[in-house]
Parts: sequence; C-alpha cells; structure tokens
Amino acid sequence: MKQSLILAVAACCLLAGCAAQSTSDNLNDPRVEKLLKRMTLDEKVGQLVLFTSDWSVTGPTMRQGYIDDIRAGRCGNIFNAYTAEYTRKLQEIAVNETRLGIPLLFGYDVIHGFRTIFPINLGMSASWNLAAIEESARIAAREATAAGLHWTYSPMCDICVEPRWGRISEGAGEDPYLGSLISAAMTRGYQGEDLADPATMLACVKHFAAYGAPQAGRDYNTVDMSERWLREFYLPPYKAAVDAGALSVMASFNELDGVPATANSFLLKDILRDEWGFKGFVVSDYTGINEMVKHGYAADEADAGRLAINAGMDMDMQSASYFNYLKEQVKKGEVSRKTLDEAVRRVLNVKAALGLFDDPYKYCSPELEARETLTAEHKAFARRFAADCMVLLSNDGVLPLRKGERIAVIGALADSKDDLLGSWRGAGEVQSVPASIVEAIREANGGNVIYAEGCKETGNDRSGFAKALAAAAVSSKIVLVIGEDCQWTGEAASRSDIHIPGVQSELLRKLAATGKPIAVVLLNGRPLDLSEEINYAGAMLEAWYPGTMGGFAVADVLFGDVNPGGKLSVTFPRNIGQVPIYHYAKNTGRPYVHPAAKYESRYLDVPNEPLFAFGHGLSYTRFEYSDITLSEASFAGDGAIEAEVSVRNAGEVAGTETVQLYIRDLVGSVTRPVKQLKGYAKVYLEPGQTQTVRFTIDRSMLEFYRQDMSWGAESGDFKVFIGGASDKVREASFRYEE
Ligand code: NOJ
Repeated sequence: MKQSLILAVAACCLLAGCAAQSTSDNLNDPRVEKLLKRMTLDEKVGQLVLFTSDWSVTGPTMRQGYIDDIRAGRCGNIFNAYTAEYTRKLQEIAVNETRLGIPLLFGYDVIHGFRTIFPINLGMSASWNLAAIEESARIAAREATAAGLHWTYSPMCDICVEPRWGRISEGAGEDPYLGSLISAAMTRGYQGEDLADPATMLACVKHFAAYGAPQAGRDYNTVDMSERWLREFYLPPYKAAVDAGALSVMASFNELDGVPATANSFLLKDILRDEWGFKGFVVSDYTGINEMVKHGYAADEADAGRLAINAGMDMDMQSASYFNYLKEQVKKGEVSRKTLDEAVRRVLNVKAALGLFDDPYKYCSPELEARETLTAEHKAFARRFAADCMVLLSNDGVLPLRKGERIAVIGALADSKDDLLGSWRGAGEVQSVPASIVEAIREANGGNVIYAEGCKETGNDRSGFAKALAAAAVSSKIVLVIGEDCQWTGEAASRSDIHIPGVQSELLRKLAATGKPIAVVLLNGRPLDLSEEINYAGAMLEAWYPGTMGGFAVADVLFGDVNPGGKLSVTFPRNIGQVPIYHYAKNTGRPYVHPAAKYESRYLDVPNEPLFAFGHGLSYTRFEYSDITLSEASFAGDGAIEAEVSVRNAGEVAGTETVQLYIRDLVGSVTRPVKQLKGYAKVYLEPGQTQTVRFTIDRSMLEFYRQDMSWGAESGDFKVFIGGASDKVREASFRYEE
C-alpha cells in the first residue's frame, strides 16, 4: 500500500511571530489610567509586590503577615495560594478592605499539570507532539483557574545541554527549534484565544535568560557565553513564547556577562522590549532581587531594588526590596515616577486583560473547581499522552511483553506512586494516582505478577536482592524499574554524577546473570549515563516521570497496547566526560575521521558519539527510508525546493514515526553546526504502508547570525539530512543563491 501525502512543517509561521494573540495588542485599559491618577505611592508600590502565601514552599524564605499586607494595599499579588475557597477569601480582603479595591493576581507553578499531572516537561518534549503539549497546558489551565489561579510560571524555555543540572527536567531539551515550537504551544494552551476567558491563564516565560547553561551544571551558577551563541541557541524559545502572546516574563537567577539577569537592561530592555516588542510585565524570580547583594552586584537590598527597577524589572517576587525601599527611592528621585508608573501600568493592564476588573471572583467557584478537577477526560488524555512521551531506547525483542506470562516486577520505583508525579507537580497529589507501575502491570496481566523491591533508589542496602532473584527465578520475564528519586531533579537538584544511583545497576547485573529476559523501565529527569546498563538490559524504556496516569501508561507500552513513538529531545552521553554534547555541534578544524588518528578531535577512552543521539527512539515496528529526492538542485532568494522521502512501515504493527529534517551550511561567514534540526513531521503508518513525506526548504531554514550579527542566509552549498534520528539519516546536497 502506498499513500502520498505532503506534510508541511509547522514552524516558519511561529518563528516569524504570526501566532501573537489579540490580547497583547490590547494593553491599554482606560480604567488603568484612571486608577493610576488616584493611586498613592504606597498603593503603586503595592502593585509591584508579589509575596508567597504559606500554602506551598518554593523558595528559601517565607514571610509572615501577607494577609495584613494585602489589607494595607501594600501587596497586590500572591503566589502559592490556591483553591477557589482560599483565593476568594484573600480576594475579598483586597477588593473590600483596601481603599481602591484593586484585585489580587494569584500565581503558581503549574508546570506539567495542576491536579492531573502530565509527564515532566522533558518527557513531554520527547513526544514532539505539539497538539498534545498544547492540550496538556489547556487542561492545566482549566484545572488551575477553577482553583482560583490566574497566572502560571510556565513555560520554562531554558535550552539545556547540561544533564548535571536538575532543572533540565523542566524544559524541552537541547534544541532551539523544537524548544520554540513547544514554548509557543504551551503559551497558546495556557492563554487560549482570550485571557479574559475564565478557563485561560496568564503564561510566564522563564527563566530569562540562559538559566539552562550554569557552569558545571550547578544550579544558580554563573552563565557566560557569546552574544552570538546566546541569540542563536538560547533565546529563540523565549522569543517564540513572547511572539505567541505571553504577557509575563520571569528573569533568571543567573548572571550573564557579569550582570545578574534580574537587573540586566540588555536583556530586559534592549532585547525584550525594544527588539521583541514585549508589552507585558517582568517579574523577578524568588528573592532574585536581594540575591544581587550576594552576587556582588548591589551593595545592599535597597540598592538591589533600585538597580532592578531601573533595568526594567516590574515586579519583585518575595525580596520585599520594593516593599521596603521603593517609595523612598521614588521620593528621592533615585527611581523616576515615570519608571514606577510604567511598571504599575503594565501590571494593572494585565489584570484588566484577565478580566479581574470586571469580576474579581470569576476564577473562584468551588462548583467549577469540583467539576473541572481530575475529570475522566483529563485522566484519559494524561494516560495517552504519557505513553506518547516514552522513548524506547533499546530493544532486543523482549518488548512488547505477552499478556499471560508470569512477570517479575522489581524495583522500589515500580511501587512508588509518588515518584510518578515528578518534581514541580503543581497541586498533584499521590492520592490521585490510581496505580503504581506494578499495580498497573498486575491489572493488565491478569494478576500474574510477582513483585520484589530489590533495593531502594539510593543507598547500598542489598538485603532485598535475594527476594528479587527468587521472584525472577519463577517468572519468564523481568521488568526492572530503576532510576532517580523524583526529587533528584528539579530546582536545586544538580548532580555531579549521572549514573543510576545506589545499587540499582548492581541489581540489574545480578538479575541479568539469571539469563531471564529483562526490560528496564527508567524513571528519571535527566540524560543518564546508561553505558553499562545497556549491556544487561534486553530493552530500555525511558518513561521519565510520567504523571498521574503514568503507571497505566507504562503498562500500555510494555504490553504493546501502545506502540512507543517518542524521540529524545536531548542527547544521552556515554559518560559525564562527553558533556556538553548536542547534535548541533560544530566541526572543528580537526574533526575525527581516521580511525585512532592522533591530532584529531576525539577522546582516547570513548567514541565521540553519544550513547543515544538527539532524535533517537525505537518502535515495535521498523521504518524504512528511501533516499532523498530534491525537486531542484538549487534555489535562490525567496524561492524554495522540496525534499522528499518515502517512509515504509516494514514491521508487523502500526506505529508513528517522527521524520526529522536537518540542514548543514558547508561554509559560512561564521562556522555552522554539522547538523541543525529545521523541521519534522509525524506520520502514522499501518504495517506495510508507505508514505511520502515532503518538506519545503526555503531561506528561513538557512538563516543565522552572520559575522556582522545581521540575521540572514548566505549563498553556498548545503546538505539536507532526513531520517528517524539525528544519527540515522539520508543526505542530499543543494545550492542556495542569496
Ligand atoms: C523559583 C524557581 O526558579 C521558579 O521557576 C519558580 O517559578 C519560582 N521559584 C516560584 O515558585
């Protein structure tokens, strides 16, 4: 069977910014100007103050007395408070007991779901499924807004090639192109068509900028890179979210080129406002303003606040620097009234866009909250999506499992509902998780399962090994669930070692010695060094932290009810010594081409190639690619050519393949990556079915920051690569004339 289908690639429109929404053009509510005229200095400062409530702890400091501050009109924004009932209570204080009755804005970290939790974001990105990612954000917004929230601190747009950094789990991986598509999709999902719709919420683009590149992978550490690298590889996902209409941006904790992002006017004014035309407001990260004292950039907390607001920081999260000092600074002229008014205007206009001046309680309905939370529909979607995000890293045929055979399920993580939720789990609760992995496998397999813990994720207690081996002995196959405790990723969770912790790998070796086929299921939030494990595991399924319905989703994939189609959005190195390693690396003047050659760019102890390349991911079927056919051998100016391949499902079961397109510019006024992702298409194929996949290559795919920092393409020879992973591609050549 052969079908011909043209699959256009979804990106150009987005990167050109045409997805921007109407809300962002409407930020001049007349009520705001009237209010500004009536506001005292104290009241204005209050609108720039954001304090945490005591419901959730997401940073190092807590502050008592936020309710009194709201009542005094000195705190206009609250985060970490939720439920329709509680937010209504706080909102009533702001509306009824302050002089002007300006409603509060309620923020929260809704990162991968609110009550119904989806896979961690690194996992989501492995689906390469923009519609599903957008849908997950839409559901998160429905649940969160029904609990009184207006504002999520998401999407997290930090490109990361650093697996030591615990927060790699929160982002979309290493690639600026895929990352941009995802950050825009999430923004659309949260904000919808109209921010005033009570089921949509304000997105916050974070952490601006380059937080994902901390030296040595240690959280909050120094970031330094050339402006060219920053603009080409790190800024695009933030910009894509801004272009998609996001109306708030959070500055990052790190410094960049010696200046903390919190008071970095190059980032906050030159790039964000002047170049990108951002109209919303900027918020600091948690105590980020005060932290500039420890950075050695501000003399004291007052100085830090002054530097921040003058550099373009509108709202102070939790530092209380604006709260304590801003009024006096304005009186003394250290901060101009214009600067203050501009910041207040931005915040109030966003409140107006959310509809809070029309009805401050529109987000506080306990009935809606009960109706929208953890619905059957949300859970069904979460189950499908979690399976979609899983990546089959290796498989010698042990997977899929056959229902009915006796299976030994081993590993502490197999029995943990808590770990399924991952870190930054919003208001997700363990009680809402219907099944752990072992429970779900048991249910799918008619109870024919023996479980043994074997060992914990950490520590060196081997006392459970014997029971695990006994369970293996009476089973025909083993499912070993190993990885990291979910709190080992996320904020302040960097590691210097990316091996699987504890004695879990030792247990794998012992189980492998039994000769029983083993499928390893991995729960983790970063690329791990799996160089040893791959030799012992018959199959390895990367399940990330798959969320509320993750237990069932793992079982769905293990038994082949769902054929896995996820592809890595981040490179998995052979060991930590290869880091940073990513698919858009440059060639060097001495690339390694001759086996064992000296004076070529290589390691003596490991190959240059990673263990699993960007874009890698297997299926229970096989996809065969034809050679690439180009419609023309060259094109010029605004023209275009088409690159086409046929993809055939050569296996026994239906499956989805992500067909990836990469480009290389052979000679540039600055050196270019050996491969750069520029497009992809997902195709679903029945066994034996063939489909033609066609990509349009135009100038936008060839553009970069040229030597003079102008953005554009250059004439010359190019290569195009198409395949099912960055390291498994066909190639063809073409020429472009500017
Ligand atoms: C600190 C984190 O860096 C940021 O991502 C989060 O949104 C804030 N805390 C608020 O919890």
